Amino acid sequence: MAKILPQSLGLAPELPAHVGIIMDGNGRWAKERGLPRPMGHRAGMERLRGLIRLSSDLGITALSLYAFSTENWKRPAGEIDALMRLFMEYFRRELDSLHENGVCIRTLGEKSVFPAAVQEALETAERKTGANRGLKLNVALNYGSRGEVVRAANLLVARGKPVSEADLMNALYTAGLPDLDLVIRTGGEQRLSNFLLLQAAYAELVFVQDYFPDFTDERYVDCLREYQRRNRRFGALQG
Ligand code: IPE
Ligand code: IPE
Ligand code: MG
Repeated sequence: MAKILPQSLGLAPELPAHVGIIMDGNGRWAKERGLPRPMGHRAGMERLRGLIRLSSDLGITALSLYAFSTENWKRPAGEIDALMRLFMEYFRRELDSLHENGVCIRTLGEKSVFPAAVQEALETAERKTGANRGLKLNVALNYGSRGEVVRAANLLVARGKPVSEADLMNALYTAGLPDLDLVIRTGGEQRLSNFLLLQAAYAELVFVQDYFPDFTDERYVDCLREYQRRNRRFGALQG
């Protein structure tokens, strides 16, 4: 399914199966240019096409993007409103080309709190691409890891039996996906901000200074290269 050989980009063949990106720094990108924050979010959105396409062309199994956290409701109403419009615009505008590329879209998070038009755009995208066999594209929207674990716990309690690790992982929004191998955070902060904490239990973390709108495909490849330099031990001993 891969259309680009990792070797052609100076990468080793073993790519991460599941990459997460904490897309941070849009606001600062805009501020530095004297622009309103939503312009930074728009500029960030424009970077998605390339990053998704490259992930898909390299044959990466899953890409999870942190777009809106449960904590982001603390922001001013105007910024939240602009983000909602952008989410709608994005899913409406990109759906056909994502679908043509075989991308399978899943949202992570509780959608019911979003405006009806946003929910509709998200559900249409999920329904249309649900059977696709290409890149699994997860978009975390109104997502928080602790809230996700509480939701999972309630689902499991309702079953009334002892729970295994596999049961817990299968009750998360990411059920059926491989664990995260690599989490990239743009924008210079070195924290996870409640993003996929259980799924990232053994992920390699790469923090880059670039604001998300400046995170080019080349920078993404640099992060994949950095991942390949890491020595993953998973608690065992290994040279
Ligand atoms: C990340 O960029 C996008 C969202 C959280 C929606 P920010 O908006 O957090 O940008 P900074 O961190 O303020 O620069
Ligand atoms: C994390 O960025 C959330 C997203 C990228 C959607 P934030 O900007 O909200 O994180 P903090 O507040 O700096 O931890
Ligand atoms: Mg931020």
